[in-house]
Amino acid sequence: MVIQTSKVSESRTNPNQQNFIHEIEEGLLAHSASISPKFLYDPLGSHLFTAITLLPEYYPTATEKSILNHYQAEIAEAVGTGGTLIDLGAGNCLKAESLFTFLKPSHYVAIDFSEEYLHDALENLRSKYPQIQMHNIAMDFSRELILPDFIPNDDRIFFYPGSSIGNFLTSEAQALLTQIKEQAGNGSLLIGVDLMKEDHILKAAYDDPLKVTAAFNLNILRSINSLIGSNFNISQFRHQVMINHAENRVELYLEALEDLSVFWPGNSKLFKKGDLIHTENSHKYTIHSIQQLLADAGFKSTKIWVDPKDYFAVILAH
Ligand code: AVI
Repeated sequence: MVIQTSKVSESRTNPNQQNFIHEIEEGLLAHSASISPKFLYDPLGSHLFTAITLLPEYYPTATEKSILNHYQAEIAEAVGTGGTLIDLGAGNCLKAESLFTFLKPSHYVAIDFSEEYLHDALENLRSKYPQIQMHNIAMDFSRELILPDFIPNDDRIFFYPGSSIGNFLTSEAQALLTQIKEQAGNGSLLIGVDLMKEDHILKAAYDDPLKVTAAFNLNILRSINSLIGSNFNISQFRHQVMINHAENRVELYLEALEDLSVFWPGNSKLFKKGDLIHTENSHKYTIHSIQQLLADAGFKSTKIWVDPKDYFAVILAH
């Protein structure tokens, strides 16, 4: 039996890391084991996600892009120009950049978890668009969304693309949308949401033949190993996708291929062959269900654009 030797020293970890360690342990030790999807996005995971967005089977990214492109004049008219564009989960800022030409924002606020990533992306954008005042804010907005005072209050346009809202439980999505509404004031939210569709299309999108999504999911175990000093062996697990019709969502799991034990400083967990670790939910909506969610968050009206196959919706909520 090999016990992981790389120790995570309690005294050398920062408070944030301590929270993560506690959260990860709690998830692993629960009767139905789970790992929060935020740990999918370590540096390698972020690159693997970018690769997923290029897969022909993963329709959300290309479909959302085509809707934004096709309806840009209508969207600009409905949103208005010259506002403050606030990009939630900005990443490399490319999606927001595609709006610059038609929304002509006066300010651009890029918010993401990772500071370095944002910093580099904004440096590049600043030289390309000197007329737009740009700010980057490193923040886990899923916990709390409060913008600093220097962000203009008027004409705020929150941009939340990619159906990232679908990765939250309904109660969490509700809480986040409510905070966005509070911060938007008289402004608006431009959000991308993935719509419910046939199982085989969802299956192909989340279990692609090139196995990029499998690599993305399995990489969470490497991410956890480096965060808590555990000794997960990736070859003892496989990627599993289930469609939960009752909850209208795709669920991602890692399934143990044999009986095994995982150790980390101070604890361990036994997995039986076939045991599952839940790693992600990706909720799919109907126009009615997303409108209801937005209304419950305090938005009074919506304008909706969809693609010809009704795969994806871009919604402007006021
Ligand atoms: C980021 N998020 C919207 C993606 C999704 O479709 O739920 C994450 C993802 N997981 C597997 N493939 C893509």
